Amino acid sequence: NAEGPTLFGMPLKYISLVTLAVQNAALSIVMHYSRVSTPPSQAYSPASAVLLNEILKGLISFSVAIIQVFNSQESPYRKSLPLSVRHVCHEIFSADSWKLSIPAILYVIQNSLQFVAISNLPVATFQVTYQMKILTTAAFSVILLRKSLSPTKWVALCFLALGVGIVQIQSTSASPHHKSVNVPVGSAHDAAPVHIHIMSPLKGLGAVTAACFTSGLAGVYFEMVLKGSKSDLWVRNVQLSLFSLVPALLPIIFSDHRNSQGFFRDLLKNFGGWAWGTVAIQTFGGLVTAVVIKYSDNILKGFATSLAIILSFLASVALFDFKLTPSFLLGSTTVLVATWMYNQPTGRETVTIPIPSKA
Ligand code: C5P
Repeated sequence: NAEGPTLFGMPLKYISLVTLAVQNAALSIVMHYSRVSTPPSQAYSPASAVLLNEILKGLISFSVAIIQVFNSQESPYRKSLPLSVRHVCHEIFSADSWKLSIPAILYVIQNSLQFVAISNLPVATFQVTYQMKILTTAAFSVILLRKSLSPTKWVALCFLALGVGIVQIQSTSASPHHKSVNVPVGSAHDAAPVHIHIMSPLKGLGAVTAACFTSGLAGVYFEMVLKGSKSDLWVRNVQLSLFSLVPALLPIIFSDHRNSQGFFRDLLKNFGGWAWGTVAIQTFGGLVTAVVIKYSDNILKGFATSLAIILSFLASVALFDFKLTPSFLLGSTTVLVATWMYNQPTGRETVTIPIPSKA
C-alpha cells in the first residue's frame, strides 16, 4: 500500500496528522487555562509537568517497543516477553544512544519555555507566533541536513515571517495584558471572578521565539539521528526520554525546599485536573509527533499545526472572549497562506543526510 499502514481502512498517515492538529489546539487551550485559572500561590510547577511528561512518554514508548518485538513475525524473540524486554533494553543502551542527549536537552528547554509563553500570551497569538517553527526548522534543515529549498518555499517562509510579525505587533501594543477568569466557587450557580492573571506579552513573545529555535534545532537533529541509523523510532523515543530526565530533574532539585513535604508531595503540589490534562495531552502529542515523523514527514507536520491555529482560534473566541482584530486576521491569514504555499509539493527538494561511518 503506497499510503502505508491503515487503521479502520484509513491511512495512518492522515489519521496521525489530523490527530496532531486536534492535539495541538487542545494543548494550547488546556495548558493556557491550567496556568491562568489559579492564583500564583496555587499554581502547579511547570518543571513537574515537564518531568512527568518525559516519564510517561518514556514508559509508553518502552511498552510499544516491547510489544513490537513480541509480535513481530521476523523477530527471533517473538512471543517471549523476557527475551523481548532484554532485546529492547539492549537496543536502548546501544553505543550511539548518546546522540539523543542533544535533542533531549533542547526539548526539555522547549517544553519549559512553552509554559512561559502560554502563560503570557492569548492562546491564538501563541499558536500563530509558534508557526515561526517552520522558519527555524527550514534554516536548520539547510544548515544541518544540507536540504535545498525551492524558490516557492523561500517565498512562503518570508510570508510566514511577515504574518508572524503582524500578529506580534498587535499583541505587544496592548502590554501588559490583563485577563480575568471566572472560576465557579461555592454552589454551581455561584460563579465569580476570583483573581486577575497578569500577562506580559513581551515575555511571552521572547519565550515563544526561543522555543521556535529549540524546536527547529531539536526536530532536525532528531531527524538526522533517526535517518542516519537503523534504530527503531520507539527505542529512539525511550532514549530521548531517558536523556531528558537529567535536565528535567535539575530545576526540581535546585528549587526552594524550605517548606518541603517530601519529593513526591512537592512534585505533585497543586496538581489538579487541568494540570493532569496538560501533562496527558502533551504526552499524547509527543507520541503522535513520533508517529507523524514515521508515517508522514516534517512538512506535513507543519501543515497539521497550521490547521490547529484555526481550531484553537475558534475555541478561543468561544472560551476566552478572544476579540478578533483586523491585524490578527491579516497576520493569521498570511501565516495560513504561507503554510499552504510551503506545503505545496514541488519535488525539487533534496536531502543529503550524513551517514556515520560506524553504526
Ligand atoms: O512543536 P514541535 O513539533 O517542535 O514539538 C515537538 C514536541 O514533541 C515536543 O514537546 C517534544 O518533547 C515532543 N517530541 C517527542 N518525541 C519525539 C519528538 C518530539 O516527545 N520523538
